[in-house]
Amino acid sequence: MTPPPPPIGVFDSGVGGLTVAAAIRRILPGEDIFYVGDTARVPYGGKSRPTVERYSLEIARWLLEEKAKTIVVACNTASALAVPRLQSECPVPVQGVVAPGAAAAVASTRNGRVGVIGTRATIASGAYERSIRELDGGIRVHSVPCPLLVPLIEEGLFEDKITDMVLHRYLAPLLGSGIDTLVLGCTHYPLLRGAIARQAGPGVRLVDSAENCALAVRDLLQKRQLSAPPERTGTLRVALTDETEGFLRTAAQALALPVGQVSVRPLGAPGPQTQADKTFGL
Ligand code: DGL
Repeated sequence: MTPPPPPIGVFDSGVGGLTVAAAIRRILPGEDIFYVGDTARVPYGGKSRPTVERYSLEIARWLLEEKAKTIVVACNTASALAVPRLQSECPVPVQGVVAPGAAAAVASTRNGRVGVIGTRATIASGAYERSIRELDGGIRVHSVPCPLLVPLIEEGLFEDKITDMVLHRYLAPLLGSGIDTLVLGCTHYPLLRGAIARQAGPGVRLVDSAENCALAVRDLLQKRQLSAPPERTGTLRVALTDETEGFLRTAAQALALPVGQVSVRPLGAPGPQTQADKTFGL
């Protein structure tokens, strides 16, 4: 029997990166995915660059132990703060979400006014502004940090009055500035797509960094000749750094992802087959 092709390694601080995993499964159904959600340390969005770099490198090492052929940073915060470090220290290609999202925003805008929402760290890094302006220096970028959204999403409050109120507070100044394109610059936010679209209205296009990242992964694998044979059916394995029920609920209900048993490995534990490992499921 031929051994299975190596997996794509994907990580995020929590459940948000599953929006990227779901998009990869749709676009590349033959690929195996090994997903790590750093649920013990979510959220990343208020943390400093050295901390986010350290967390990202620890997870990258784990993904490399799993023989990942490429590492997908399915987190805008880690993409904005840690991708250069990961690229210089990892022996496999590293794909972040910021560059594909910025390119999609440039392709989408008609009036040259783009809004970006993300975590405090992503917005403070200026990563989207830089990437968008590198592609088109004439575009005006309006950015707003939205630190309350990730906790609401991790709690599964996708359709809720409180979430609508918080969104209104964050989006009102952006919408008032005449944007025609809004980048969901956090991989958690596609889970609020319905609520965001209602407030933004039909005149604003939403750019989903998850979908665009999955397309970039397809191109990267093709270019490096790393694609799995298209006729196979890929698998999804999920590992978390702490047990959380909300994660499984969101995977199953909001994303229809077939997450079965989830293994839990506190980071810093020596290897995947240790006493520290255990599994749980719905
Ligand atoms: N989903 C992540 C992002 O795209 C992380 C959010 C967080 O942990 O604060 O930024």
